[in-house]
Amino acid sequence: DWTMAAFRDQAIEEIRKKVGDGRVICGLSGGVDSSVAAVLIHEAIGDQLTCIFVDHGLMRMNEAEEVVSMFRDHYNIPLVHVQAQDLFLDALEGEMDPEVKRKTIGRLFIETFEDEAKKLGGADFLAQGTLYPDVIESVSFTGGPSVTIKSHHNVGGLPERMNMKLVEPLRELFKDEVRLLGRELGLPERFVGRQPFPGPGLAIRCPGGVTRDKLDILRQADAIYLDEIRKAGLYDAIWQAFAVLLPVQTVGVMGDGRTYEFVCALRAVTSVDGMTADFYPFDMDFLGNAATRIINEVRGINRVVYDVTSKPPGTIEWE
Ligand code: XMP
Repeated sequence: DWTMAAFRDQAIEEIRKKVGDGRVICGLSGGVDSSVAAVLIHEAIGDQLTCIFVDHGLMRMNEAEEVVSMFRDHYNIPLVHVQAQDLFLDALEGEMDPEVKRKTIGRLFIETFEDEAKKLGGADFLAQGTLYPDVIESVSFTGGPSVTIKSHHNVGGLPERMNMKLVEPLRELFKDEVRLLGRELGLPERFVGRQPFPGPGLAIRCPGGVTRDKLDILRQADAIYLDEIRKAGLYDAIWQAFAVLLPVQTVGVMGDGRTYEFVCALRAVTSVDGMTADFYPFDMDFLGNAATRIINEVRGINRVVYDVTSKPPGTIEWE
């Protein structure tokens, strides 16, 4: 008679045994996995855990503040909020190539994380929210296709370089179980039920060059789109929904004036594991409504399109 409460108690026991009086650091991304891992480990060893949140300036509207206030103010978990926006955005300036963008972000992320860990005086353990499917996937990768479709970003290589051992308390769980565990640990529903968000953040939702202005426009459109999805009661039925700001301007008309502004693409998919996905069949009223709000409320966008590509042949993200 296996329950999440029993899993939690056993996991806490194991973390205590493994860590002893060692120091642990955990990178927070704002996602469900790292959040649940951090709260679980904090229950086990308290302030022997320090979380590091690298703010790369590529988060969505209010996302950074939400993460910081939840962990620091609500849970009282020691948290370093690294303000690395300029570092990342300056490095991305003028870069158009999707793989170079991804690799730049991944490299800076590791360097920043490493610097902060050193400032803390190092740590004995690195905590990660690795799930069972991640474990399986990295095994099959070794014998898998040699073509890299997209370079995913994580802190690979860091534990060896810094001489840290890994703590991965979610290694046996699937995503839905992690959500159950999160609820068991009292994480708010808004956090536990979150749709996945990629490590490189909004950079890969601004195809081509990323600028602060474009990120600003994208954040506003994305927030309106998600607001409409929540209001329609569709958030939990969708694996991921987000806006993409296309590097294309088109002509429009507003009042008696001509406009020449960006195109925003809306994306929403259903999926079980992100490996394959179907585009979400919104009704046209919903889409028309969301488009009208975005065009009326966001300066810089005068046209909205909906992406009806499934995966394969498309990928979920645009880069
Ligand atoms: P694609 O675009 O490859 O995405 O169909 C599949 C899933 O992976 C997410 N994704 C990432 N997640 N780091 C992450 O943590 C990354 O670099 C990354 N790239 C894509 C994507 O949002 C989708 O859920």
